[in-house]
Amino acid sequence: MVGIFILGTFLLYCVGQKQIQGVPQGCVSQPSCSACLRSPGCAWCKHKDFLKSGESSERRCDTAESLRTRRCEQMDIINPRLDPVFLKNNDLSSNSDNVVQLKPQNLLFKLRVGVPQTFNVSFKRAEGYPIDLYYLMDLSFSMKDDLDTIKNLGQDILSALKKVTQKVRIGFGSFVDKVALPYVSQVKAKKNNPCPNRLNICQPAFSFQNILRLTEDVDEFKTRVSDQIISGNLDSPEAGFDAIMQAAVCQSVIGWNNVTRILVYTSDDTFHIAGDGRLAGIFEPHDGMCHLNGTGFYDGTKYDYPSVGQLARVLAANNIQLIFAVTEDSVAAYKALSKLIPQSVVGVLKNDSSNVVLLISEAYSNLSSTILLEHHEAPSDLDVTYKSHCTPEKGDNTHWQRRGECMNVKLNQQVNFTVSLNISTCLKEKQTFSLKLQGISETLKVSVETLCDCDCQDREEQSSHCNEIGTLTCGICSCDEGHLGQRCECERPKDMTSAESMAATCRQDNSSQLCSGHGSCECGMCMCQGTHRGNFCQCDDNSCARHNNMLCGGNGQCECGTCKCNANYTGSACDCSTLTDQCGTVGKLCNGQGTCQCNQCQCNKDFFGINCSKIANACPKFLLY
Ligand SMILES: *[C@@H]1O[C@H](CO)[C@@H](O)[C@H](O)[C@H]1NC(C)=O
Ligand SMILES: *[C@@H]1O[C@H](CO)[C@@H](O)[C@H](O)[C@H]1NC(C)=O
Ligand SMILES: *[C@@H]1O[C@H](CO)[C@@H](O)[C@H](O)[C@H]1NC(C)=O
Ligand SMILES: *[C@@H]1O[C@H](CO)[C@@H](O)[C@H](O)[C@H]1NC(C)=O
Ligand SMILES: *[C@@H]1O[C@H](CO)[C@@H](O)[C@H](O)[C@H]1NC(C)=O
Ligand SMILES: *[C@@H]1O[C@H](CO)[C@@H](O)[C@H](O)[C@H]1NC(C)=O
Ligand SMILES: *[C@@H]1O[C@H](CO)[C@@H](O)[C@H](O)[C@H]1NC(C)=O
Repeated sequence: MVGIFILGTFLLYCVGQKQIQGVPQGCVSQPSCSACLRSPGCAWCKHKDFLKSGESSERRCDTAESLRTRRCEQMDIINPRLDPVFLKNNDLSSNSDNVVQLKPQNLLFKLRVGVPQTFNVSFKRAEGYPIDLYYLMDLSFSMKDDLDTIKNLGQDILSALKKVTQKVRIGFGSFVDKVALPYVSQVKAKKNNPCPNRLNICQPAFSFQNILRLTEDVDEFKTRVSDQIISGNLDSPEAGFDAIMQAAVCQSVIGWNNVTRILVYTSDDTFHIAGDGRLAGIFEPHDGMCHLNGTGFYDGTKYDYPSVGQLARVLAANNIQLIFAVTEDSVAAYKALSKLIPQSVVGVLKNDSSNVVLLISEAYSNLSSTILLEHHEAPSDLDVTYKSHCTPEKGDNTHWQRRGECMNVKLNQQVNFTVSLNISTCLKEKQTFSLKLQGISETLKVSVETLCDCDCQDREEQSSHCNEIGTLTCGICSCDEGHLGQRCECERPKDMTSAESMAATCRQDNSSQLCSGHGSCECGMCMCQGTHRGNFCQCDDNSCARHNNMLCGGNGQCECGTCKCNANYTGSACDCSTLTDQCGTVGKLCNGQGTCQCNQCQCNKDFFGINCSKIANACPKFLLY
């Protein structure tokens, strides 16, 4: 039982292997050249005289390999396959005048339908790449103790980040909540001083204010932050989403450059989400636009809070990486939020923000250690897949994935990706899409065109090949009205009797089927189906004996059911070599102890081995003496 089971498993395994190897080959034949090029794996033979009598034009469409074995010359095989054109391919460089982190930069592909093409992408984070860091602070009353710490923060952040890069700019903005009930009291005195008790002084609440656009000036940061006065509101969630949205989309007000962009969000409480605005009668969904007024305020009373999806999109589109620095109590909520926002991390802020600098530099290196390569706006019928080669030692990740992904990448480490493009339909025109690394502004532009039309360069009107009554293109005749046949040699029958008498010539003898049942009779001529041919479709060039699952053992041509073997081969399936080199090249063939059949020794009794050099049953013989 066990033996049978093992044998069975083994057989299954072998069959499985064979099928896997068999898959990529093959072509579904098509009757015209352009349809043929649109069929994966197919090529077209344009030679005028390629077809034998009765063969349908589909027989011109086959794998390039088969066309060659069927004696179509290379110059007559239409099988366009073009390498990608590198329109821009600068080398990676960390030179500060000309930083290149992504290679290549611009590619043009001419793709065949269903034929994948691959290319390589390299990325290396440039050393000392500049950083823009915008600090978003919750100014609700509970953050009062943090404000004192933040005042001296600028210098510390700069010196921490200067370990990674020389060029750092910082900016500052703050948020409280929408100035409307039930978030902010509308009682006049409370509105002007929203502190919980009257002994403190608070500034009126606001949704978001840009206080300091990105600058290299640390002193400016210090003064502007020192000027800040705490504010207050009624409920605990804040307008953090309004602030993130404005900070991300107000590019020119905030002053973002095309460098590493980091948004630090500090809060000790949770956030209002899309839909919460309804409590204050604000129904209009956020439009994703910048709405800061002349003094940098966002009046949040027109639009609802943005949704998480909107935030994720604008942050990705603007290459902004987000660091949530939040207190212990609200970490869980922000961890859940961070899962929905790519390129964001959450760090635990001490209740007086004293660890914020450490947190920022740790979060920055965490963000930089994950590298994600994704495509944007690719044509819908284009399948883009990735293989990531993250570390040279670890070898390759052998699965094709929806995006390129490398974790724990060290500074100065280069990572490579193989990207495969496989298009399933023809495109009307060239289409361009981009590959981007999350959080990096550099893009790789990829343009794709499809090779779906034949340019056989043989067009001939009134061609003599078509009896001067048809146009020759790509080896086939398109006949003028009323004419038919491979060479337009016949006229369409005018009445029934002439049609019937014509049909008679499509039978091999009176008793046989029209075109042997393998074709249609068209004005006295058989047009055969599939691999059949001949005046009566009586031949099938696919019906010969097979060896090793190949027609005529791959060593001959199938002609009308019989293998015509190539030189040095014989046998019904051309499975027998006429050479003798495998039977030994010195001395007698098979050591004189066997015969050489099909280039293999058939040993005489008592001998075995490739050269019949070994003696079987040696011991009993010697024992006799
Ligand atoms: C950043 O790059 C984008 C696209 O490459 C460009 O439109 C934008 O003007 C650049 N911004 C700055 C500040 O250079
Ligand atoms: C911007 O809005 C704030 C708060 O609503 C207001 O105090 C300020 O005057 C406005 N600035 C301009 C230029 O309208
Ligand atoms: C901050 O945390 C420390 C120790 O964890 C605690 O002693 C202090 O009271 C806290 N301060 C506030 C304002 O919660
Ligand atoms: C950075 O990554 C380490 C290891 O994955 C993790 O323990 C730490 O909490 C992360 N810190 C931040 C701020 O993301
Ligand atoms: C390419 O796409 C075609 C369908 O359009 C599919 O049959 C083929 O398997 C794909 N090839 C690869 C390597 O993914
Ligand atoms: C047939 O064998 C001979 C002798 O080995 C060799 O010279 C010749 O190239 C072979 N022909 C083909 C088509 O392989
Ligand atoms: C068979 O004979 C050939 C030539 O005599 C020799 O090169 C080869 O090594 C031999 N093979 C074996 C398995 O004996």
